[in-house]
Formats: sequence, C-alpha cells, structure tokens
Amino acid sequence: MAVFYDNPALLNCWFALATEFEVRNGPIGRTLLGRKLVLFEDSAGEVQVADDRCPHREAPLSTGRMEGGLLVCPYHGWSFGEGGKCVHIPSADPSMPIPRNGHLTRYRAQVRYGLVWVCLGDDPGMLPEISQDADAAFRRINNPVEHWRASAVRMTDNFLDIAHFPWVHTGTFGSRQRTQVGRINLESLDDGFHGYRYDVEAENPAGAQIVSGQHSDTVFRQMTTGFVLPFTVRSTITYETGLHHVILLLSAPMDDVNSYFTFVVWRNDDFRISAEEAIAFDRQIGAEDKVMLEQIPGVLPLEPRGVASTQSDKASTAWRLQFTRMLGLGGSDERASEAGEIG
Ligand code: FES
Ligand SMILES: [Fe+2]
Repeated sequence: MAVFYDNPALLNCWFALATEFEVRNGPIGRTLLGRKLVLFEDSAGEVQVADDRCPHREAPLSTGRMEGGLLVCPYHGWSFGEGGKCVHIPSADPSMPIPRNGHLTRYRAQVRYGLVWVCLGDDPGMLPEISQDADAAFRRINNPVEHWRASAVRMTDNFLDIAHFPWVHTGTFGSRQRTQVGRINLESLDDGFHGYRYDVEAENPAGAQIVSGQHSDTVFRQMTTGFVLPFTVRSTITYETGLHHVILLLSAPMDDVNSYFTFVVWRNDDFRISAEEAIAFDRQIGAEDKVMLEQIPGVLPLEPRGVASTQSDKASTAWRLQFTRMLGLGGSDERASEAGEIG
C-alpha cells in the first residue's frame, strides 16, 4: 500500500523531472507519482508533457522519435505536435478527420533554472524561488537528473541533516573529529526557505580547494540549510572570501521508494574554473548520500515517534511535521510535542 506518493496534495506541486537539454533531445520517459509520462519539445520550442501512452493502441511514446518537431509513435506512426495534437495518421486517408480522442492528455510544464518542472494537478503551487538566478554576479550550473532507489522522504530528511557529515562524507569534506552538532535554531531564511544557520570548519581536500578557491587544510564556512514543501532543500555556503555557493537539492517521487534527484548550483565566482570543476565535489558528496540512502529500505516513518530523534534532527523533524500536515495526515499535538521535545 502506498504511504505518500498517491496523496492528492502532491498533485499540485511542481517537480523537476529533467534538464532542458535532456528534453530538447527527447522524447524521454519519466514516472511521477506513479504516472508514466513522456516529455518532448514541440516544433514551437514548447515543452510538452503527456501520458506516456499513445491514444491509438497505448504504445509508450517515450520509445518513439522526434521528426520535424513532431513526436512519432513507434507502433503505427501517429504523429503529435503543438499542444499534443495528433496531426498525422499514416494509415488514414488524409481527408479523414483525426478521431476526437486521438490527441494527447497533457500536463502543466515549465522550464526554469535549466530544468523542466511538471505539475500533474489543476491548481499548481509555486516553484521554489532562488533570487541568485536573476543576479548577474552568479552563474548557474545544472546536473543531469538521476534515479535514486530511495524514498524522497528519506532524501529530504538527509539533505536537512548535518549530523551525518562526519560519517557519510568521509571521502569529501566530513571530519571524524567534529561530530557534535551545535544547537539548531529554526528561523525563516530568505526566499521563503525555513531552516537554520550554522558555521562549520570543513575539510578542504584537493577537490574542495578547487571549489572554495582556498588552499588551507580546512575552510571556515557560514552555512544555511532550509526547506520548502514538499521536497526542496537549499544549502547556502559563504566562504570568508565572499564566495557564495548555493545548492538547490531536488527530489521528485516516482513512487514511495524511487525518486529522481538533481541539484543546481549558483556561484558568484570569477569563472576561473569550469562548470564541471565547480560541481565535481558536490557530485561526489551526492554520490556518498546515495550509497547510504539506497541501503535503507522503505519510507522514513511519518507517524509520531516512528523513529527516534535528537536535537540535530530538529530541521528534519520540523519538515516531517509540515509535510504530514500538508498530506492531511495529522500534524497532531503529539507530533508537535515530538518536535518540541527535541528542543
Ligand atoms: S499505438 Fe501509437 S500509433 Fe498505434
Ligand atoms: Fe549528505
């Protein structure tokens, strides 16, 4: 039985499913909230998202091809263009009308931050706001979208958690020496994120030196980590040099235990390193999280006290409370007191 992915509250959320680049070279198939979708760019350059099911005999259109801006079904060659309209049926007399139910069932889609965002519902909410995207001092760097065999609930919890750094990120910036997490005070951060600020002295190995622009063994970072519902986490890093490095971590549920993951970076650097170099270290960090999370089966329990928490879990506990409220699963006093108990 599904735990969360079939909850109607998620239908009106936007989820990043692919990069603009991937869709331009489509068609591509994606699964969102259990629904199979095809994504393609029509001849007008508009991204179209539809059920991955040909209206004729239900072949998956994502296995078709693009020809002259039309999506061509691999089974009998029906072709679909702007607005998902069927415009050509090779077997039919061209003077015959297209059947009324021969067009695609489409969903809302938009391109932002280099990503294609999809909403399955009729009443879409807001996309996360990243004000650095409109700031000419910052460049944006995108990553491919990956499939993680992990629950989006566990991923969001993980991205809000800094206590795992010295344990999971030993190959990158974590340090065995600094395991204790200082007191977490939750607050409203900029751009509508809710989270906390903290300072860390992070390991600065060769890979990190490229990113930080500093060559000491450790670097001082002022950081924030925060979330917006349902599964968006943002980490910001400010180095003593004034370099800002903003990471948007995006999880989209295919179902309860499979998700898409991508991250986007904004940096106000001097462009001395390539985009690839600027995100190589973050990619390694993400790969460390993936290894850990893919070993944990199922969904992180949403019910009160389903897992034990401590003060360092304060942000993820607050997120879990808001998320379960959003799903209409309570957010009871008991939950609130659980959040309160850990300080
Ligand atoms: S199933 Fe697509 S054209 Fe027949
Ligand atoms: Fe991590």
